[in-house]
Amino acid sequence: MFHTDFGDGNPILFFDSGIGGLPYFKRFWERNSSDWVMYIADREHFPYGRKTREEIAGILIRLAAGLLKRVEPQAAVLACNTASVSALDALRETFPSIPWVGTVPAIKPATLASATRCVGVLGTDRTIEDPYIMELAKKYGPDAKIVGLAAPDIVRFVEEGGERASESEKERRVSPYMERLRTAGADTLALGCTHFMLLLDTFRRLAAPDIAVFDSVEGVVRRLEGVLEAAPNRGQRKHGAVLLLTGSAPIEPLWRERACAFGLDIRRMDSPHVPEGALE
Ligand code: DGL
Repeated sequence: MFHTDFGDGNPILFFDSGIGGLPYFKRFWERNSSDWVMYIADREHFPYGRKTREEIAGILIRLAAGLLKRVEPQAAVLACNTASVSALDALRETFPSIPWVGTVPAIKPATLASATRCVGVLGTDRTIEDPYIMELAKKYGPDAKIVGLAAPDIVRFVEEGGERASESEKERRVSPYMERLRTAGADTLALGCTHFMLLLDTFRRLAAPDIAVFDSVEGVVRRLEGVLEAAPNRGQRKHGAVLLLTGSAPIEPLWRERACAFGLDIRRMDSPHVPEGALE
């Protein structure tokens, strides 16, 4: 039985523009299935990666404000690199009582592990152009060369159901990027977009044997678990996991299948605000 009323309970919120955060939710849920999670897929504003920092911050502040009228979350996770580089500071400033957990590309381990001192980072346009990426790289490997590539086509492919595509179709999308990294001399790759996690096996296979792939799933989930250790209301009232879709379009069969595959109930909500009765 899942909970469709927002009136009580202290959920953990996961935010992404779509499917990208689901592998993060999954890892968390494997170890914490007595918690109460609301996963928000902001399909109405997908893709974030081609929007400006200000647009993304505005979208997430409105979305969070609507939700926070209804629930008092124990923590909120931006399971999205683009949202994190664009809106994490603004969200922390606007809602200081919520512990916010962001997602950062695994540039640190990728840089430390690189023997060629050439590190690939793959993300959205917004993430790759953000100065934060270069700051991270400079911090952990001032001598390393960073090859940042934006791959909006892979993001869209995944969002439209690419995780279910044939292996050859997945490889067709990923291999041009791997070839560019190889040509540049990279021997490590930090996946800087959560959507790519749905193609992790493909990335790993095409990267082997000379490029090691690093992702942020375990790091983000551990950080969340650490934050929750200090949360006063953990597990007191509810448990369950629901996927909330923004936008007024009907819930597509693809989303129903995904919710089922990841063990979530699914509801639609109106965005940016969550008026009473917005849940189906
Ligand atoms: N999942 C998001 C990320 O990690 C990006 C997807 C989008 O462009 O909306 O960057």
